[in-house]
Amino acid sequence: MTAAPVLEKLNLSAANTAFIKRASKLLINGEWVHSASGKTFPTYNPATGEVITRCAEGDKEDIKRAVAAAREAFEKGPWKTMTAAERGRIIWKIGDLMLEHIDDLAELEALDNGKTRSVARHVDLPLALDAFHYMAGWATKICGQTFPISVPYVPGGNFHAFSLREPVGVVGQIIPWNFPLLMAAWKLGPALAAGCTVVLKPAEQTPLTALRLGELMIEAGVPPGVVNIVTGYGETAGASLAAHDDVDKVAFTGSTEVGKLIVQAAAGNLKKVSLELGGKSPNVIFKDAPDLAGAITGAANAVFFNHGQCCVAGTRLYAEKSVFDQVVDGISEQAQKIKLGFGLDPDTDMGPLVSEEQLARVTGYLDAGRRDGVEFVTGGKRFGDRGYFVEPTVMTKTKNTMSVVQEEIFGPVLVAQPFSDEEELINMANDTTYGLAAAVWTKDISRAHRIAKAYRAGTVWVNCYNIFDSALPFGGYKQSGWGREMSGEALELYTESKAVIVAL
Ligand code: NAI
Ligand code: MG
Repeated sequence: MTAAPVLEKLNLSAANTAFIKRASKLLINGEWVHSASGKTFPTYNPATGEVITRCAEGDKEDIKRAVAAAREAFEKGPWKTMTAAERGRIIWKIGDLMLEHIDDLAELEALDNGKTRSVARHVDLPLALDAFHYMAGWATKICGQTFPISVPYVPGGNFHAFSLREPVGVVGQIIPWNFPLLMAAWKLGPALAAGCTVVLKPAEQTPLTALRLGELMIEAGVPPGVVNIVTGYGETAGASLAAHDDVDKVAFTGSTEVGKLIVQAAAGNLKKVSLELGGKSPNVIFKDAPDLAGAITGAANAVFFNHGQCCVAGTRLYAEKSVFDQVVDGISEQAQKIKLGFGLDPDTDMGPLVSEEQLARVTGYLDAGRRDGVEFVTGGKRFGDRGYFVEPTVMTKTKNTMSVVQEEIFGPVLVAQPFSDEEELINMANDTTYGLAAAVWTKDISRAHRIAKAYRAGTVWVNCYNIFDSALPFGGYKQSGWGREMSGEALELYTESKAVIVAL
C-alpha cells in the first residue's frame, strides 16, 4: 500500500503499524468486510497532511447491510437472551481491554486526530474506558416502576400496574473527530448496557481508533451484529444511517448544522433522536476569584485544551473590568508559551487542527475578526506552512454581534470582553444560540450559585473547568442539543418505557 513509507517514518508501536495495515474494512455482523463499492478514502496525519492509510468508504449499501445485521442481532441473537449480568461483564471487559492496550490506543488517537500523545493517554483514554466500566454496572440496574393506579372510570377495579424499561432497538450513532474514542464510548456504553444493537459511523477524519475498538469488542465477546462499524463520509454513509427506516434511534454528536439535518432525516420513520451539538461557552472571571493566577491558567486551558476543538471550549471570556487587562495579558502570555508541533513529539504542547477544512474554517474566522476590527492581543494566523496548525489566539475589542463572538470557531481562539455589572454580564453570557457549558470564577458563594442558576447551559463549572465524569449528565440547552449523555440519564435515551396493566 502507498502509505507504507509514511508509516515507517512515524515510528509507531509494532502493534499500531500492524493494525493500520489491516484497517481498511468495515465491521458488519462480526466480520471484517470490504465496502460494497470497493471504494476507500484516505485518513491523514494532520501534522503533515500525509496519508496514513485508506479505510473502506462505506455508503448506503453498507449501511443497509449493517442495519440488517443489527436488526437480526437485536431480534434473534444471543444478545437478546443473555442476562443483564452477562451483558454487563462483556461491557466491563471492553474497558479492561482498552486499559490493556491504552498506550497503543493513545498513540493511534494522537496520530489520527493530531492531539498530543499525552492528552490522548491521560484524558481521552481514561475517560473512554471508564465510560464502559461505568455503564457495565448499569446493565443490571435498569428498572421500571410500580404504580398505584386508581382508574376513576372502573369502580371497584383492582389492577397491578408496572413499567418495563426495554431497549429502544437498533441505534445509529454518528460521531465526530475531536475525541473519537471517547465519543464512541459515550454512545456505545449506554446503548450496550440497555441491550440495544448499534451501527456506528465514525468521523471520516478519524476512523482508526473506532476500528481498533471494534476488534477489542469482538475479543470482549460482543456477539456478531451487536456493534457494526461503517466508516465513510457524513453526506453518504451518515445521511443513509440517519434516514434508514429500520433504525429506531439515532444519536449524533457534531455541528448544529448537521444536527438539524439529522432531525429532518429522522422524520421519515420518526426515529428517536439525541443530539450533542456545538457550543460557545462563557467563562466569567470576577476580581474576587479565589486565586486569580489559577483562574487565568484555567481560562487558558478552557479555550486551548485539545486546540479549542471542544464542544465545551470556554471561548467567550468575560473578566471584571478592574482585572480585565491582567487576565487577558496572563492568558496571552500562556498562549505564547504553547509549543506547537506533531502530537507524537514528546515536547509538543499543542498539535494541529484535525483537517485542512478545519484550518480553512478557523482562519476564515480570524479573517472575519480582522475585517470587523477586533484587536489581536496574540496569535491571529496559521502557524507554519505544513500541516494544519493555528496560533493560539486572543482577541479583544469585540462586539456581541460579531461572528467571532456568536459562532463556534472550534480552534484555539478566545474572544475577551470586560464587564462591570452582574446583570449585564448574565445577559451577555446568555446571548447565544448555544447552551452547552459555562463557568464562573469567584469566592462569593452566593454569587456563584446565583450565576450557576442564571446560566442557560447544561453544565456549569465554578472555580474549575473541563471537569467530566461518567456519573455526570452531559448535554445542552437551546441549540446545543437534545438529551443527556453519561450518567443514568443517558439510559433514558436508549430505552423505551412500557406500561403493563394486569387485572387482578
Ligand atoms: P459534522 O457535524 O459535519 O460531522 C460530525 C459527524 O457527522 C461526522 O461523523 C460526519 O461524517 C457526520 N455527518 C456530516 N454530515 C452528515 C449528514 N448530512 N448526515 C449524517 N451525518 C453527517 O462536523 P464537521 O464538518 O466535521 O465540523 C464542522 C464544525 O462542526 C466544527 O467546526 C465544529 O464547530 C462543529 N463540531 C462540533 C463537535 C462537537 O463536539 N459538538 C464535533 C465536531 C464538529
Ligand atoms: Mg461537516
